[in-house]
Amino acid sequence: MMNLDPEKLPLHLAIIMDGNGRWAQQRMLKRIVGHQRGAETVNMVVEQAWRLGIKYLTLFAFSSENWSRPAMEVRALMTLLKKYIRQETARMMRKNIRYNVIGNRSDLPDDVNATLDEAIRQTSGNTGMLLTLALSYGGRQELSMAASRLARDVVAGKCSPDEITTDVFGSYLDTGGLPDPDFLIRTSGEMRISNFLLWQLAYTELYFTETNWPDFTINEFQKALADFQARERRFGKTSDQISKRN
Ligand code: FPP
Repeated sequence: MMNLDPEKLPLHLAIIMDGNGRWAQQRMLKRIVGHQRGAETVNMVVEQAWRLGIKYLTLFAFSSENWSRPAMEVRALMTLLKKYIRQETARMMRKNIRYNVIGNRSDLPDDVNATLDEAIRQTSGNTGMLLTLALSYGGRQELSMAASRLARDVVAGKCSPDEITTDVFGSYLDTGGLPDPDFLIRTSGEMRISNFLLWQLAYTELYFTETNWPDFTINEFQKALADFQARERRFGKTSDQISKRN
């Protein structure tokens, strides 16, 4: 990728991969064909993010709300996911990429969980990029589960209510230990967060494109990253303070 400042890349990039279904329907194809093409875009983005040296890539692959889709589509998505992970683990090993999963794993079918466990185990020593898949994930669910775990620790005397800072609370989330995303890309023209990483996106730069996920190209990816590089991130400070690096 050209014209990008390697010093100003997001440390953590998150993506809401939307529009697979519409992409397929516009072409009179089955929705699952859109997801299959979407998996090819996943490959492109993983490849390019890896080339650029992006350390954390988090993909919204299946939301808590997606369970209410037709059973056939849910099944097909689970099969696709399993196939993708099996097929790509060797490549993740070559590229030193480590798999991670956030979301409610207990909702996932056993065979999908077994495939995920194996991929996570195999790649656990890799240090290049952390590829996090959000599966059966919902931000509010994650927050309430974190609150519940924290409450248990308080009751058990492991933590005092006075000690609950944002850092402490953050460590109870599925993303504990990960930096917050610097940049979020959402495809297909929807301008919503849709219950993704609610806590973690507090200061994230947001980017929306009309392009459906299967049509999202290297060029578009580069354009999005260039847009990120042109932004000034102030985190509540003034522009002057930022330019003086205060
Ligand atoms: C949103 O499109 C996409 C999903 C619900 C699933 C995302 C899955 C993939 C990209 C494929 C496999 C993933 C991996 C990590 C290999 P949509 O169906 O909501 O599109 P629509 O809004 O047009 O209906």
